[in-house]
Parts: sequence; C-alpha cells; structure tokens
Amino acid sequence: MARAEMSADEYQAGARRLTPAERVRAAEQIRLEREAAARAEREREAEAAATRRAAEAALAARPLGVRLVEARCGGCHARDYFERQRFGYAGWWATVVRMQVVNGAVLGPGERGPIVAHLAATYPASPVGEALEWALVGAVAIGSVAAPWWILRRRRRRGAPGEQLGALPATRGPQTFLGSSE
Ligand code: HEC
Repeated sequence: MARAEMSADEYQAGARRLTPAERVRAAEQIRLEREAAARAEREREAEAAATRRAAEAALAARPLGVRLVEARCGGCHARDYFERQRFGYAGWWATVVRMQVVNGAVLGPGERGPIVAHLAATYPASPVGEALEWALVGAVAIGSVAAPWWILRRRRRRGAPGEQLGALPATRGPQTFLGSSE
C-alpha cells in the first residue's frame, strides 16, 4: 500500500541515517558557505569604505577657499546664500571682517585671505561696483591721513592761550552794554 506522506519519525530517521562520512561532508559544506558569506560581507564593507574615502578625498581636493568658506561661514549661511551676493575684493574683505567683529564668525590665522580671494573671484561685483568700492577705500584712506593732519594744523595755528589778547576785539558783533545808561 502506497503512503502519501512521510511521518515526522521517518523524516528524522532519514537524517539520523547519514553516515559519518556524509556528516563530515555536510559540516564542511556549511563551514564553506559561512566563510563565503563572511568574505562577501567583508568585500562589501571594503567597497563602502573605499567609496567613502574617495568622496572625502574629492571634498578635500577642492580649493582651500571653497573649503574654508564651507567650514567658517557654512554654520550660519546656506551654500547658495553667497550666490546672491556680489562684492569686489574690498567689499568681500569688509564683509568678512564685519562677520568676525559683529556676528562672531571665527577664523583661524591667515584664513581671511583665501576666503576673500575665493569669494571675490566666484561672486564678483560689476566693474562699476568694484570701482565704487575702491573709490570708497581711497576716500577712507585719504580721510584717515587728512583728518589728523587738519586737527594738528588747527591746534598749531591757534597758539598759546592769551597770546592774542590785544590783537582781537574784546567782543564781536553789535555791542550792547547792559546795566549802564550813559
Ligand atoms: C555666527 C554666524 C555667522 C557666521 C559664521 C557668518 N555670518 Fe555672515 N551673516 C550673519 C548674520 C547674522 C548676517 C545678517 C546681519 C548682517 O548683515 O550683519 C550675515 C550677513 C552676511 C552677508 C550679507 C551682508 C550684506 O551686506 O548684505 C554676507 C555676504 C555674509 N554674511 C557673508 C559671510 C561670510 C563670507 C562668512 C564667512 C567668513 C560669514 N558670513 C560668516 C552671520 C554669520
């Protein structure tokens, strides 16, 4: 009489009937499969690490100014913020100094130069804007020399107190005497 299914006992019995040599082969097979899986996992990890390193190297290979702007300005400004700004070299310089003094941006020694050079090259002013900036720089430079000179000159001209006592009229303008009706 044909039986449709194996009972659980018969199935287990079948497993128990492996010869010692077959068991060794089965164990060996499992070991090989586990090793292959571990190898594949290690390869995947190595590949991911290589991709990560390549991405880091690409980021590090960008010009210094780009990396500095990202590191020193990126905390407060989105990257596309600067695309809407246009300054000449002097304007970018003044802006970066203002960020340091007014807004608390922190730069390392010597970092302002590369930052300003990068910004001025990438987001430049129009020629007219640039000319106006340098005119302003010139005016400030001339003013900072001329103002102290003018103040000193005035002081020297004025002379010592009392020196011109007799030389100047006692009062200026229409003279009105109060308290005496002569
Ligand atoms: C700690 C935050 C902070 C950092 C860091 C910072 N900024 Fe700013 N920045 C501000 C704030 C706040 C304003 C708006 C107020 C103002 O104009 O001072 C501003 C405004 C600006 C403006 C607009 C100015 C204008 O005239 O319209 C520019 C351009 C700018 N920042 C560039 C930079 C650059 C370049 C750096 C990196 C060197 C930088 N910022 C770093 C906070 C920061």
